[in-house]
Amino acid sequence: MSRVHQSVQDFYAGAPLSKFPEDLRVYEHLIWESNPSAVIEIGSYHGGSALWFRDRLRTLASYGRIRDPIVVSVEVEPERAVKALDAADPHWPDSIKLIAGDVRDPTTIGKVADLVPPGTQVLVTEDCAHVYETTRAALEGFAGFVQPGGYFVVEDGCVDIDELRLHDDWPRGVLQAVRDWLRTDPGYQFCVRRDLELYGLTSNPEGFLQRLR
Ligand SMILES: C[S@@+](CC[C@H](N)C(=O)[O-])C[C@H]1O[C@@H](n2cnc3c(N)ncnc32)[C@H](O)[C@@H]1O
Repeated sequence: MSRVHQSVQDFYAGAPLSKFPEDLRVYEHLIWESNPSAVIEIGSYHGGSALWFRDRLRTLASYGRIRDPIVVSVEVEPERAVKALDAADPHWPDSIKLIAGDVRDPTTIGKVADLVPPGTQVLVTEDCAHVYETTRAALEGFAGFVQPGGYFVVEDGCVDIDELRLHDDWPRGVLQAVRDWLRTDPGYQFCVRRDLELYGLTSNPEGFLQRLR
């Protein structure tokens, strides 16, 4: 439980970042394997994760594996992220596009699509309210951005595992939303990569979804 607590109090480049170090390593593996040139993040919080993804894509570009990396981060309350991103890197708007919007609002999808050229390999990371409705909305609205071989990561299915719940008032419903969506036509195109849960502890059980076709 202390590990869960630590992960929600971490920082990257001076901005709060709320992820297990083990899951950051898994992201590094799947980013190297699938070569996304865009990351769509749903749930920016203070922007630390957007910076982390931006820097991973820049590294991938430095190896010549992608060109023109971009991070698009969707957030209902973007003010916190603007403040922390300004403090970390005054040039952040060149590489991170912060979209003020709700994942449940269909117009949000269009705003994101305007920034991501068709055919781009995209990594989608869903990390917002961790309830059934928003998880399902993210899968329905954004899985189509992922090309075959790419990944959609549903974060924090740990909320549905009693041993990993930090607070009684944490939400629930992530795992049910994933399982239900995987039984839909778009969901059948994805498989759950539980073999990527390599490090014995993950905040994202059943959450590393790879598009097969
Ligand atoms: C768990 S935090 C994101 C953590 C961040 N990705 C990180 O790793 O540091 C969840 C964020 O999602 C935002 N959020 C909650 N409901 C949302 C919704 N319906 N649409 C978009 N963002 C939402 C919250 O305001 C909050 O900033």
